Amino acid sequence: MKNNTSFKEIKPSEVDLNLINLLPKVTTLITAKKGDLINTMTIGWAEIGFLWYRPVVTTYVRESRYTLEFTEANDYFSLCFFDCKYKDDLIYLGRHSGRDENKIEKVGFKTEFYNGVPYFLEASTVLICKKIYRDLINEENFIDKDVYKRVYADNLDFHYRYVAEIVAVLQKEKTL
Ligand SMILES: Cc1cc2nc3c(=O)[nH]c(=O)nc-3n(C[C@H](O)[C@H](O)[C@H](O)COP(=O)(O)O)c2cc1C
Repeated sequence: MKNNTSFKEIKPSEVDLNLINLLPKVTTLITAKKGDLINTMTIGWAEIGFLWYRPVVTTYVRESRYTLEFTEANDYFSLCFFDCKYKDDLIYLGRHSGRDENKIEKVGFKTEFYNGVPYFLEASTVLICKKIYRDLINEENFIDKDVYKRVYADNLDFHYRYVAEIVAVLQKEKTL
């Protein structure tokens, strides 16, 4: 059995996620494993598309995040998308660090695994992602320097950008 029975597996080509709409509503977590540990954090920036002959997601993790240790330690991570009713939990997970506390336990999310990749049972849709490429955002490559100034100039806390293949998609079965 690959995944929990409350989810059905669909093809990446069947994913129906409008990230322009979903991400600003605080609906998304990135989660990865490092040895026996799991960490998660809220993300507000990502893209879904088709690149290098594969369905991909691109996501951004700043150098300062504890989660970075996890996304670096593992070839796989998950992106979990949640209903708006979980917004307060996702704000909590995006304002507290796994360095300081077991924040997953704190919000009470239940962890499940897809071929060893952690995700949360409370999610509506889960993307299981395999890293293809990563780089570090840098000032020189900005064409629009206003964006650089707004996002990085004050903190110099650059994002690692991960382009990852969507290798599996789990979608919550609707219960009427
Ligand atoms: C709405 C929202 C969106 C966020 N988006 C991102 C993001 O895309 N990339 C990032 O590195 N941090 C993002 N953060 C910040 C991290 O989620 C936050 O710093 C978190 O506490 C890091 O946890 P960690 O130290 O356990 O990794 C976001 C936070 C919130 C509340």
